[in-house]
Amino acid sequence: MFLFPLFLFCKEDDNSFITKFEYGAMLYENPRGIGCVKCHEKGDKDVLIAQYSEFDKKSKGMKMKSIIAPAINRVSFQLFIDKMTADKTDSKIMPTYFLTDEELKSLYYYIKNINKK
Ligand code: HEC
Repeated sequence: MFLFPLFLFCKEDDNSFITKFEYGAMLYENPRGIGCVKCHEKGDKDVLIAQYSEFDKKSKGMKMKSIIAPAINRVSFQLFIDKMTADKTDSKIMPTYFLTDEELKSLYYYIKNINKK
């Protein structure tokens, strides 16, 4: 018996109900984890997340340290992928995400286009 390939009708490359940019924006705010927006805000400039003081052995005094979420709208695709697929031990601050290749592509498309809107 010949089975007509049904999947042909289910092809999803025509996402016309939602643009690539909108899809990326959605992932940016809700990537099945903490939204990128919480730390990177608009993504177009460095964001100071926290400041704390730490004992500095050299000067034997307290030293101010800060945690900054860098601007991400200019990162290369390679750096983006490395960062997004790095495990927890690589960064103590960036959460680990489990996004598909398609989701990563949309997210990257979004961050590269944030300030063009
Ligand atoms: C809890 C805060 C936090 C959240 C949430 C977060 N980030 Fe980050 N991100 C950081 C910090 C801090 C750094 C810089 C230190 C580091 O690399 O870990 C960073 C670094 C990056 C970098 C590398 C930038 C560079 O120039 O090295 C990229 C790309 C990035 N984040 C993208 C994202 C995306 C996309 C999301 C959402 C899926 C996200 N981040 C969510 C805090 C966060």
